[in-house]
Amino acid sequence: MKNSTKNIKNLNNNEEIANAFDHLTPPNYPIAYKAGKWFFCGLPFFVTEDVLVPRVDTEILVRAVQEYIESQTQSQKFPSKIEGWMPRADGVFEILDLCTGSGCIAVALTSKGFTNVTAVDICEKALAVASKNAETNNVNVNFIQSDLFKNIKTRFDIIVTNPPYIKTNEIGIHDKSILCEPRKALDGGADGLDIYRRIINEAPNYLNAHGQIFLEIGDVRQAEQVKTLLQNGGFHDIQIIKDRVVIARNVSDEAIPIRTHKAGTEQCTKN
Ligand SMILES: C[S@@+](CC[C@H](N)C(=O)[O-])C[C@H]1O[C@@H](n2cnc3c(N)ncnc32)[C@H](O)[C@@H]1O
Repeated sequence: MKNSTKNIKNLNNNEEIANAFDHLTPPNYPIAYKAGKWFFCGLPFFVTEDVLVPRVDTEILVRAVQEYIESQTQSQKFPSKIEGWMPRADGVFEILDLCTGSGCIAVALTSKGFTNVTAVDICEKALAVASKNAETNNVNVNFIQSDLFKNIKTRFDIIVTNPPYIKTNEIGIHDKSILCEPRKALDGGADGLDIYRRIINEAPNYLNAHGQIFLEIGDVRQAEQVKTLLQNGGFHDIQIIKDRVVIARNVSDEAIPIRTHKAGTEQCTKN
């Protein structure tokens, strides 16, 4: 027998949610929005039409960050394995999650410990969802409304991001259901790379020396394009993981002053 919406709290994974809500969900409408709940990295997330539904592919990004942190801390011997990189004495990594949406990446990383996570989104409504998800999962994340780095005033050991990366004229052509998701979460501009260019251009100002950047990308072709942007931006040790994540290291060890910005007044609209 199908579960009813009344016992949503008892649904423990996405398969159970799909079984319970499939017959209640209109065609081309995400089941996660109908249910209002979706799992990511084994954790429950509240989702509304203000946020992208967390994707299983994004778990590759979270795992890549976790494996990097583990590789740096497992021996508990500091300084780290990366020459010249000096982690904090307490082994806590300062992480910036850019384009946080539902907060899934920030919450999943914080729930594992060893991290102080700041999470940014341009959309106030998305941040309200993300805050609720941090609260539900009993973690502390510092949420900031900002157009990328605009309201960020400190540096980080790790920047992680799943930015909008679909080409404007390809949105919804393969999967109509994504048309129900926020346009701001999807639209990467004419070639899909607009937000990557901005992030890669500014990231060295917000990464500690030898800090790492982890970017989710759409496909193999985009991975090569993002790799080139990183090379041109002076990043080193660039790796592509499972065609979905690009990792690179900031080599600048100069203390570049962080520009100060006026508080942002950016708004997002659904479409
Ligand atoms: C692809 S979604 C990713 C959401 C979430 N991190 C995930 O992996 O499911 C991209 C998010 O970026 C946000 N966004 C788009 N442009 C932005 C900008 N200029 N500054 C900050 N956030 C932005 C959108 O509001 C959306 O929540």
